[in-house]
Amino acid sequence: MNKQTVVSGIQPSGQLHIGNYLGALKNWVEIQNSGKYDCLFFIADYHSITENYDPKEKKEQIFNLAVDCLAAGLDPRKSVFFIQSQVPACTELAWVFNTITPVSELERMTQFKDKASRQLKNINMGLFDYPVLQAADILIYKGVLVPVGEDQIQHVELTRDIARWFNHKYQTDYLPEAKPLLTKSARVMSLADPEKKMSKSLGAKHFLGIDESKEKILDKIKKAVSTAEGIENLKAIYESFLEDMAGDFKPDKMGETKAVMAAGIYNHFASFREKKQELLKNRSYVNKILAQGKKQAEKIATKTILEIKEIIGLAS
Ligand code: ADP
Ligand code: TRP
Repeated sequence: MNKQTVVSGIQPSGQLHIGNYLGALKNWVEIQNSGKYDCLFFIADYHSITENYDPKEKKEQIFNLAVDCLAAGLDPRKSVFFIQSQVPACTELAWVFNTITPVSELERMTQFKDKASRQLKNINMGLFDYPVLQAADILIYKGVLVPVGEDQIQHVELTRDIARWFNHKYQTDYLPEAKPLLTKSARVMSLADPEKKMSKSLGAKHFLGIDESKEKILDKIKKAVSTAEGIENLKAIYESFLEDMAGDFKPDKMGETKAVMAAGIYNHFASFREKKQELLKNRSYVNKILAQGKKQAEKIATKTILEIKEIIGLAS
């Protein structure tokens, strides 16, 4: 029996935090290791340039994210791991999808509204079209399962709609319908403002980087707000790292609990840190993995775009 295809991506736009890890990356590794799926994971660099960024830093961010993903357990023998922009058939497919996606559907996207409000001087077409490229990312590989955090559900639903609109318009059943795969921690909240999702873009005190020092982790957890919502969020984080916690969660003794949490979270990432140091010393190995991933992804993507062109009546 053919395995189902799992596809997901992550943007190279800053430090990975425990929200990214618990909501996405950790799940990618578990799905990959289950052996039940064909897995493709990529670095969404084209998506990341829709936000304000410094071109001088981008290459290093891409490389660092690749290292982080590998150090967290992505295994190039089990998953195809590559850089989005190195597979141009995907952006070609996004163009085709542009022609079947109503503008009004994109206007509804909450991430667009949120990001646009944060970069009023740079509300570019790419930001608006972001979910269409995401649909192409998934469908160029015929992905049906998409492991992401809760904030991405709307985009995966749009992906399903795009597949339906395409199949309907061209009287085919060529594109599959994708669905999101969520973890129990699909929405980790900010430490400093637990009514908001933990996110890189809110600023350093809001998130816990997976690569931060013991002192920094303790400091950030100590300063985490202890309102009812704050404690609920800390409890959810505590439970996500339960195996690493050398003590109970005591809501009436938050000082003690916070120290237990900081130590547990820091220890959870011990082997990650070790692997990361090794990979950082071996740039050519990391680049080789990405080159191999590009080849594997390209093979699938090129076949899909040729078939799509055939279906829509273009010369292939
Ligand atoms: P950020 O909001 O920090 O920029 P990204 O957009 O790069 O994060 O998200 C990468 C992956 O991590 C996505 O699958 C996203 O759904 C997931 N993710 C991001 N923030 C969280 C969070 N706070 N809780 C759970 N998952 C998250
Ligand atoms: N939009 C996703 C995020 O912000 C990243 C992403 C791009 C993605 N393309 C994708 C996720 C395809 C899943 C599938 O996290």
